[in-house]
Amino acid sequence: MPAPCPEALNFLLTRRSRPAKTLGLPVPDREALMPLLTAAARTPDHGKLVPWRFVVLQRAALDRLSAAVPRCDAAEGMDEKAIAKAQKQFDDANLAVAVIEVQRPSPKIPAIEQTYSAGAVCLALLNAALASGWGANWLTGWPSHDRSFVQDALDLDQNERVAGFIHIGTEGETPPDRPRPDVETLTTWADA
Ligand SMILES: Cc1cc2nc3c(=O)[nH]c(=O)nc-3n(C[C@H](O)[C@H](O)[C@H](O)COP(=O)(O)O)c2cc1C
Repeated sequence: MPAPCPEALNFLLTRRSRPAKTLGLPVPDREALMPLLTAAARTPDHGKLVPWRFVVLQRAALDRLSAAVPRCDAAEGMDEKAIAKAQKQFDDANLAVAVIEVQRPSPKIPAIEQTYSAGAVCLALLNAALASGWGANWLTGWPSHDRSFVQDALDLDQNERVAGFIHIGTEGETPPDRPRPDVETLTTWADA
């Protein structure tokens, strides 16, 4: 049996995100962020392909992303409110880490497994930030799925896409937790 780590289990049983719009200053500096990225990179990855990378978006970069929203393809003909809402995600933020899924050509590892690994990196980064006492939230938003936006604003290659923006900052107010799924009803015990 591996040695138990009740503190870690208790963290996992009680962890929750903090809404990005409630996050303020200070945000982690490079020294504080590197261990969080290192923890996130310690994520299961079939075939050791490392099918992800990070872009740390600081204030000026977030302004640049906000400015790119209205000129992206998906914004054409879109309701002004939807555009403004997508911009607000970047306008309100002080720090966000874009987790970029990088699809590696592989005869053995299916693309979907690389996608799962990138999603796992997002959760690992979120949890590392929360465990360090930061408020954090995993967001995407419609621009993150628009090719023209990710190319223009993040310079992504064709084999890359945004798995998530992990917003990290200092927690403001703490809204109530959301309802959690009933695990009993989600679980089947197979013994034959
Ligand atoms: C892939 C992914 C994308 C998400 N994108 C958004 C988003 O764009 N906007 C939003 O309000 N919530 C989004 N969420 C949900 C937030 O992360 C939400 O705060 C989360 O469900 C809280 O869960 P937790 O308290 O268990 O961490 C997303 C979640 C995932 C997994």
